[in-house]
Amino acid sequence: MSATSPGASSLVETRTVTLFDEGNPLVLASGATLAPVEVAYETYGTLNADRSNAVYVCHALTGDAHASGYREHDTRPGWWDTMIGPGKPIDTDRLFVISSNLLGGCNGTTGPSSLDPRSGRPYGPRFPAIVMRDLVTVHRALCRHLGVERLRCAIGGSLGGMQALQWTLDAPGELEAAVLACSTSRLSAQNIAFSEVARQAIMRDPDFRRGDYYEAGHGPRNGLSVARMTGHITYLSEELMEQRFGRRLQHGGSHPHGGLGIDFAVESYLHHQGDSFAARFDANTYLAYTRVLDVFDPFPDEQAPVPELEGCATRFLLLSFSSDWRFGTPHSERIERVLCRNGVSVEFHEVASPYGHDSFLLDVPEYLARVQEFVGGLAAPR
Ligand code: COA
Repeated sequence: MSATSPGASSLVETRTVTLFDEGNPLVLASGATLAPVEVAYETYGTLNADRSNAVYVCHALTGDAHASGYREHDTRPGWWDTMIGPGKPIDTDRLFVISSNLLGGCNGTTGPSSLDPRSGRPYGPRFPAIVMRDLVTVHRALCRHLGVERLRCAIGGSLGGMQALQWTLDAPGELEAAVLACSTSRLSAQNIAFSEVARQAIMRDPDFRRGDYYEAGHGPRNGLSVARMTGHITYLSEELMEQRFGRRLQHGGSHPHGGLGIDFAVESYLHHQGDSFAARFDANTYLAYTRVLDVFDPFPDEQAPVPELEGCATRFLLLSFSSDWRFGTPHSERIERVLCRNGVSVEFHEVASPYGHDSFLLDVPEYLARVQEFVGGLAAPR
């Protein structure tokens, strides 16, 4: 991602709002309640007079509310700055964009590291179990808070796309369209296996302390770092890794560590990715989100009619990437089949890209053009 200096016009701010409190708690899909619930969010562009130009951006496993532009003192733009901004596929000259940190998060929205008002201590492992619907329930509450009743579009990659799909099932009348990039309607056994390796890396770290590590001053950083390294391998394609690193040595010449240290450049790269992630992310949030991913399965029998989709007028754009082996093309094809079988309008494209699953975060011209064309073709904002 490029690191350029911000122009004053692209300065953005992360705000926080309390959407649920003791008198009006969040009722989770499990029936448990949670209060208070604070949500960190950003908005870009301007809501038009009839409130018809809003787009909701749903982030993936390790994202946050800061999707576009620069905050004060930022040296890099938000994580989807290629997608969102003036003249970009999600064009903030025309659209009002909402981006929030997910429920259960660790970047401003209530999650396991937040204080439990009943005990005055961080929730830790006592944070209630959440599912995809709960993430969407909170997005919908934020929309109401902002005066938005219907969205032009909900959009996201990977876990973000799964939220857009869930939103359609929960409240189809609220979405004119949904854009799902490299997403899925269910994790495969291999996907779940990778989730479990990540969870075990965290939980087997002695600093995990059964999830009650906040008061110790440091969490299971080693375990979280290994979890990220494993995940990161699945975000890249084999072809890209070969091209970028091959068998290149990090320090040139020889193999000084004889297998016990960093010899290869790819090892050094993974350590960097793992350690920088562990310094910014909370292990309990990672555990919660991998579970949200694993249990998501809105179409257990793809042949069966889906009552929630009856009469659904939401238009879908599905995109997959040719080199993605995490949620590759067959995952999107399954969603396409279910939507078609239930009479929902869907457009699907596999985009050629060497970057693997991470393609959705990168500058892939065909992908950006497809989103631009689809979103631009939705009813013009008045
Ligand atoms: N040794 C150590 N560090 C190295 C290295 C090496 N041999 N080669 C590169 N790096 C470091 C760079 O210094 C840079 O560090 P910085 O980010 O601290 O400045 C970093 O690696 C660059 O990473 P890279 O993968 O090359 O960036 P990119 O621009 O190609 O991709 C992202 C950007 C955001 C897609 C990618 O970095 C990333 O974070 N991917 C994971 C995102 C994610 O969570 N995806 C899944 C969601 S489901």
